[in-house]
Amino acid sequence: MKQIARDSLHTVRLQLNGVERGAACAARTLLSDFLREGLGATGTHVGCEHGVCGACTVQIDGVAQRSCMTLAVQAEGRHIDTVEGLCDADGPLSDLQAAFQRHHALQCGFCTAGILMSCDDYLRRRPDPTEAEVREMLSGHLCRCTGYTPIVRAVLEIAAQRGAAQAANAASNAASNAASPISVTSSTGS
Ligand code: FES
Ligand code: FES
Repeated sequence: MKQIARDSLHTVRLQLNGVERGAACAARTLLSDFLREGLGATGTHVGCEHGVCGACTVQIDGVAQRSCMTLAVQAEGRHIDTVEGLCDADGPLSDLQAAFQRHHALQCGFCTAGILMSCDDYLRRRPDPTEAEVREMLSGHLCRCTGYTPIVRAVLEIAAQRGAAQAANAASNAASNAASPISVTSSTGS
């Protein structure tokens, strides 16, 4: 088996919120620490460091995962999305972030980055969840402040808003297709 010196450094390159980034780290460095200390992306928080609290959740190739349970070297060449990527630094909040603000779905905010990254992934996969399903998804996160109910309200509101917008788009497309039907010409040959 190949032996790796305890303190040997490895250069890890990845796409962080769509931007190519890289830094050197030890083989045992956690992705959570690499993001915060190696790349300066401190939006990702670290709580329990053993996969329980969910504070460190990021998206790896679009899937919400614990960055404290992932080695930085495992993220080589992957797409990592963190809370910093949910909206532009000087732009408006994403619809999900704005809903959290409206519903007071955060207080101290320590859990919030991880919860947002899970919810963002979840709503892509499950655009029309029930309250029970949202609560089950949130069971992977610990929040000591909110009691979870405002978070559930925010997620359900965004699911409903996105669903309504999608239905309105579909109706508008159907109406414009009906207004300009595709003409079918038959060819008799020559
Ligand atoms: S810090 Fe990763 S799950 Fe708690
Ligand atoms: S807002 Fe404080 S832990 Fe969730």
